[in-house]
Amino acid sequence: MKARILVVEDEDIMRITVLDHLRHQGWQVDEATNGNDALALVKKNSYDLIISDIRLPGINGEKLLIEVKHHTPRTEVILMTAHGSTEDAVHCLKKGAADYILKPFDLDDLTFRVQRLLNILIIKARCVSLENCCGHRQPLIGSSPPMQRLLKLISQVSQSVATVLIQGESGTGKELVAAAIHYESNRADKPYVRVNCAAIPAGLLESELFGHEKGAFTGAEQTSIGKFELANQGTILLDEIGEMPLNLQVKLLRVLQEHEIERVGGKAPIPLDVRVLCATSRTLTEEIKKGKFREDLYYRLQVIPVSVPTLRERKEDIPLLSDFFLQQFGQERGLKFTLSPEASQALNNYPFAGNVRELRNILERVTVLAPAPKIQLWDLPIEIRGVTDDSTEKGEINLAASVAVAEKKCIRKALRKTAGNKTEAAEILGISRKNLWEKTKLYQL
Ligand SMILES: Nc1ncnc2c1ncn2[C@@H]1O[C@H](COP(=O)(O)OP(=O)(O)OP(=O)(O)O)[C@@H](O)[C@H]1O
Ligand SMILES: [Mg+2]
Repeated sequence: MKARILVVEDEDIMRITVLDHLRHQGWQVDEATNGNDALALVKKNSYDLIISDIRLPGINGEKLLIEVKHHTPRTEVILMTAHGSTEDAVHCLKKGAADYILKPFDLDDLTFRVQRLLNILIIKARCVSLENCCGHRQPLIGSSPPMQRLLKLISQVSQSVATVLIQGESGTGKELVAAAIHYESNRADKPYVRVNCAAIPAGLLESELFGHEKGAFTGAEQTSIGKFELANQGTILLDEIGEMPLNLQVKLLRVLQEHEIERVGGKAPIPLDVRVLCATSRTLTEEIKKGKFREDLYYRLQVIPVSVPTLRERKEDIPLLSDFFLQQFGQERGLKFTLSPEASQALNNYPFAGNVRELRNILERVTVLAPAPKIQLWDLPIEIRGVTDDSTEKGEINLAASVAVAEKKCIRKALRKTAGNKTEAAEILGISRKNLWEKTKLYQL
């Protein structure tokens, strides 16, 4: 790992020896001879690790540790201390230091401890990326009555271990609901495993869920544990449960009843403690009628049914959700996006068949393409504006959109007449040159 380390030590020989040794390992290492200089560096640079003496001129190691944890909580701190002051070091561990080392120490011992901490930092970073890309810990945005009811139900359901069936149209946030149930439960620190039953070929799903023994089928060269075993003591989400083949549905029913699984090719059942959540955008009662879903499994799954409302049923959440997504996309690009009142109005009126996912995708596209951070009506896709260039003839009655179409037409005409001369065109239009320039940019003329 390319790490940046700060060594804080007032004794020259000690500091230089440690510096040389760590630099020799390929790490970027800075130095400070007292606590105050160290703190100034911490505020300026971003360190993965600080190795500091406890007794220092200026602010001491303990105060430095407290300041570091305040300014950059992710920076780890190793304290160096002389024999006889172990108590101070232990005290510092309680305040958030990662480790301490007694002087005089073996340099290889120090390298070993540094390497171990850096490895933990890598794992922490991977966890953050994974949680981000899986959307595991994203907040559920919304304050409308249907959303309040859903949030209340989630916190009630979290306290139980009963199987939950989460139903709702595509893009309503079923995966976020499932993750919220897990992270609000007392299993939050245990594994949360998600299986998308639709994404795995039917023939591989059994081994994916329950694992297999070596030699169970051609190609099974190693014993492999399945997702259920991975989720032991935690929670499993069986997403798109409606796509599960009938033969596996029988096996799942047995797992739910017996609390044990059998690996493919296994000889003995393995007892497990896994909380099962299922999600589907299909109406399972219809799948039952078609003979594609087992009725007994359906009743076993929906011990607690949770139904996620469509965005159409909670239109009052559209502004909140829009702000949330605009802030998210703005952060990625260092911009602060806002919606003009007309753009906001158009979004509120749109029926969003694809629910929250559709709103999110539209805003992502708009933030990439909009000419300015203030998003105008005409920056939105045509289907949301509810009006096209020629639709005024079709009797569209959205005033702002119709005005925009009329403005565009006039400006185009004036520019054509003056062969693109903006000063003359502005004069014909009766607006300032600056105003015309802004409008041409806005309408991308
Ligand atoms: N209440 C919410 N607050 C914030 N973001 C949400 C909310 N609901 C959904 N989203 C976002 O919308 C997108 C779709 O959500 P999710 O994948 O959970 O939907 P789904 O119901 O599982 O859809 P599908 O049935 O198509 O799998 C995700 O990007 C998710 O982060
Ligand atoms: Mg989903």
